[in-house]
Amino acid sequence: MIICNCAAVGHAAICKAVDEEGVRTVKQLQDKFGVANQCRKCAIAAKTIITLVLAAKAANKKAGIEAPVQLDIKTMLEAMAAAEKTKHFAAGRGKGLRKIRASSTSACRCGKGCR
Ligand code: FES
Repeated sequence: MIICNCAAVGHAAICKAVDEEGVRTVKQLQDKFGVANQCRKCAIAAKTIITLVLAAKAANKKAGIEAPVQLDIKTMLEAMAAAEKTKHFAAGRGKGLRKIRASSTSACRCGKGCR
């Protein structure tokens, strides 16, 4: 599934980069693939994938599984939809990436009553 239309990067490439090449941040994805470098609409999805892959990787390690991480598309889409709902995910130019959080269930601390 294409995640960044501007750079034509799919979720598989992002998963592989996180799982096998040590990418941990959207900034690293920007440097590697050009993800979230133009319109930045993909920043939330990219961050969500990073989080999901790292969680799956940790679960695999705990279970003693050495296989590469493969994300379920449905799970990925649900996580992205949940991430999009949080107001803090609004990825404005320059400052949005710092506010991206992994989970929509975490409580907002901005004092504006966000959910
Ligand atoms: S969709 Fe990724 S920068 Fe535009």
